[in-house]
Amino acid sequence: MMYTRLLYALFLLVELAFGANFYDRDENIMELTPSNFDKVIHRTNYTTLVMFYAPWCGYCQELKGSMKSAGKILSGMVQVAGVNCDESVNKQLCAQNRVSGFPTLMVFRPPKINLDNPKKNSNGAASQHATEVYKGERKLKPIVDFALSRVKNYVKRLNRYSKFEELLKSSRTRYAVVLISKKEKIPTLYKSVALDWLGIYDFYSIWDEKLQGVSQLSFENDTKNWPNTVKYLQSLEKSETELQSPRIVVIDRETDTYDELDILKTTDKNDIATFLSKFESKPREGPLSKRQEYLKSILNKSKSKKSKTKKNKQKTKLTKDDIVQDEL
Ligand SMILES: *[C@@H]1O[C@H](CO)[C@@H](O)[C@H](O)[C@H]1NC(C)=O
Ligand SMILES: *[C@@H]1O[C@H](CO)[C@@H](O)[C@H](O)[C@H]1NC(C)=O
Ligand SMILES: *[C@@H]1O[C@H](CO)[C@@H](O)[C@H](O)[C@H]1NC(C)=O
Repeated sequence: MMYTRLLYALFLLVELAFGANFYDRDENIMELTPSNFDKVIHRTNYTTLVMFYAPWCGYCQELKGSMKSAGKILSGMVQVAGVNCDESVNKQLCAQNRVSGFPTLMVFRPPKINLDNPKKNSNGAASQHATEVYKGERKLKPIVDFALSRVKNYVKRLNRYSKFEELLKSSRTRYAVVLISKKEKIPTLYKSVALDWLGIYDFYSIWDEKLQGVSQLSFENDTKNWPNTVKYLQSLEKSETELQSPRIVVIDRETDTYDELDILKTTDKNDIATFLSKFESKPREGPLSKRQEYLKSILNKSKSKKSKTKKNKQKTKLTKDDIVQDEL
């Protein structure tokens, strides 16, 4: 009797120390099981970073904090998940993904979608994401950089003002969404917005320096022209004055109208989604989408209350704002 009790106490202790999943209480990292793995990882146009781990493994415990920070930084841009390979229900899943040591960090990348010829896109099982094992340093910055570099890009870069001609004359979707940025690089946050609305809007970006000459843009003598939009675009080249702030412009090619969102104040994806949903109903992924609700339910599954007392002991110098602002 005594012995059983002791054993039970010991069991509880072990359970406490090693039993719980690493990210049960994390707001950004989903703990996955075979029941949701496919839907979360493979039924999306997002890239996912997955940590396969065992709670007892020392290297996993060391990585835990950096992953929590990575989850925070990558939120909205890359899905971040954990799989506890010590759980018997997950064992097969880990074997299937050829996890042979802990921790294994793996990125799942979606297949490229052909937007001009949607019929060519494979569906269902054929559209499994490609896997890539992360072999770099187990530190926050390289992990984040790696994950961000694996985000698919569907944003077309306009590298000359004259490319607006292509934009206006293309008729694949009614609306063109253009980021006018103060940086040359296409921001990952914007790439992720393009993922949310893939096939619904066409996405473009232009570095404000490349607007030089845009005041000469003209389709006056073409059978189809866009007097309002052209006038607006021309106004973007205001002599020597710099572009005040980065912005997202939605151009309706059918009615020759446009609308702007100043994104210096709001780099929040919710605000961008709200703005974009004024024109077309709903995105497939991200804020305002059904899928987002589904993902939230997974995140929330085991989190009765997030502990406010928890302190992020790890000093993270890198923040999401750094990345987003840096790229804009
Ligand atoms: C990915 O984007 C394509 C193109 O818009 C779309 O058909 C597909 O449904 C998207 N996949 C998911 C899982 O939303
Ligand atoms: C349009 O046509 C008129 C008359 O042919 C010509 O004078 C004008 O320069 C043309 N404008 C452009 C932008 O080509
Ligand atoms: C998580 O679930 C609880 C209870 O089911 C709910 O009250 C709470 O709003 C949810 N939180 C999120 C972020 O969805």
